[in-house]
Amino acid sequence: MIIAIDGPSASGKSTTAKGVAERLGITHLDTGAMYRAVTLGIIESNIGLNDNESISEFLKNIEIHFDSLNDIWLNGHNVAEKIRTTEVSSNVSAVSALPVVRQKMVLIQRFIAKDKHCVLEGRDIGTVVFPNADYKFFIVADLEIRAKRRLLDFEKIGEISSLTELISDIENRDRLDSSRDASPLVQAKDAISIDTSKLTIDEQIEKIVEIINK
Ligand code: DC
Repeated sequence: MIIAIDGPSASGKSTTAKGVAERLGITHLDTGAMYRAVTLGIIESNIGLNDNESISEFLKNIEIHFDSLNDIWLNGHNVAEKIRTTEVSSNVSAVSALPVVRQKMVLIQRFIAKDKHCVLEGRDIGTVVFPNADYKFFIVADLEIRAKRRLLDFEKIGEISSLTELISDIENRDRLDSSRDASPLVQAKDAISIDTSKLTIDEQIEKIVEIINK
């Protein structure tokens, strides 16, 4: 069984996907973490975001996997925390717009999910990665609520930010993710839309589990 959960930044996808996977006892794959890991690797290797040749070379030897705690590893290092910094967040939209990066990530995502029941979350799961997914959901939430959620995430890892800064960062990422040529963020025609603005975490998980159990 493949469950696709797509939606814009900080809409509640990750929490929902994680909770749904736990409730159903199946794998949770955070594809955004993979684009973040590639972004981190490119930054740490001092590769310019326009240097397609070096990026292609970097991708040839890349090794990404998730451990039993669902922490992401890049080339032998646990990067679960490092991928959440503001530096990675502000560059990830540009990196994830590169077709060469997307092709590689989609291959890895299909490989990881090929013999599993899996909840995959991202931007293009229901449209590109698994267009025949058994269930497709598109999660949305009001901009300010999304920024407040991100602020809490940052506080947890000790990063300083402000609501105004985060609102403009999320708006910017929405624009970049939706307007890129390669697999833009768009709701699949057959996806069920869920607005999490006024829902608790438990309610948003329950909504999806209920639909699946039906
Ligand atoms: O879900 P997130 O904020 O961690 O995602 C980070 C970035 O990765 C986001 O700006 C869009 C990109 N992304 C993507 O292009 N395709 C996916 N399937 C998942 C994420």
